[in-house]
Amino acid sequence: MGGNKVAIVTGGARGIGRGCALALAEKGLDIAIVDMLEPEMARTVGEITALGRVARWYVADVADHARAAVVVGQVAADFGRIDVLVNNAGRGNPKGILEITEEEFDRTIAVNLKSCFNFIQPVVPVMRAGGGGRIVSMSSLNAHSGGVTSAVSKFSYAAAKAGIIGLTRALAKELGPEIAINCVCPGVIETELGNSLTKARGPELMKGIALGRLGTPRDVAGLVAFLATVEPNFITGQDFIIDGFQWVV
Ligand SMILES: NC(=O)c1ccc[n+]([C@@H]2O[C@H](COP(=O)([O-])OP(=O)(O)OC[C@H]3O[C@@H](n4cnc5c(N)ncnc54)[C@H](O)[C@@H]3O)[C@@H](O)[C@H]2O)c1
Repeated sequence: MGGNKVAIVTGGARGIGRGCALALAEKGLDIAIVDMLEPEMARTVGEITALGRVARWYVADVADHARAAVVVGQVAADFGRIDVLVNNAGRGNPKGILEITEEEFDRTIAVNLKSCFNFIQPVVPVMRAGGGGRIVSMSSLNAHSGGVTSAVSKFSYAAAKAGIIGLTRALAKELGPEIAINCVCPGVIETELGNSLTKARGPELMKGIALGRLGTPRDVAGLVAFLATVEPNFITGQDFIIDGFQWVV
């Protein structure tokens, strides 16, 4: 194995994932984007290529365990190594306990939590073969707050995102010292997903954010890129809230 460092970013077609892909490319990494939105992936790949880095895109539903293994194998073959995995793909679910179906609950857990397992499992041997690596997963402030009043992310989403924190702590012990794994917990971030919440509750939300604004994908990407690349590194098993200190959720 050799060559430039390589990052996989799931859900990297748009939003926070796109921001993470660009921030890692600016730090000199080559990027593999995994998503379902082909035109958006092609656009982000073009933006990364314009930065002088190599980028490719791979179509997958991150909830699909078998497909994740195939994609990780393909990325390893195409790039020769994998140093960073950003488990970013995710989706909210607005249904309460009495409305949600079993299938909808399972799907929320699969897209947000099982997806991390799906990608970490095949990535670990590749990272170890290359001398180690970093994993950063996208949890949410909702994992801490419960997000009960949120329009886009009720209990099934909060449960999945809280699961990412437990997974992160346990795997830090199992994967150390070669691989460091952390997760980040964004508050409200201006993306397709975030906007669906803020349209309804923007002014009310803003009053409860100490830094007086919503977050941007670049805010979150800066933290993710730090965790993915900082040297020397003594951080693993942690979850980092990045929300401008929001106390109304
Ligand atoms: N926006 C916020 O306010 C906010 C807050 C906290 C956490 N998050 C989390 O950040 C992550 C990114 O969210 P965002 O706001 O950028 O959302 P977004 O909807 O703008 O982008 C999500 C990306 O993930 C992809 N994706 C979703 N499900 C997928 C699947 N099953 N397989 C493959 N790709 C899939 C989408 O196609 C899209 O490109 C998510 O995990 C989300 O839960 C977002």
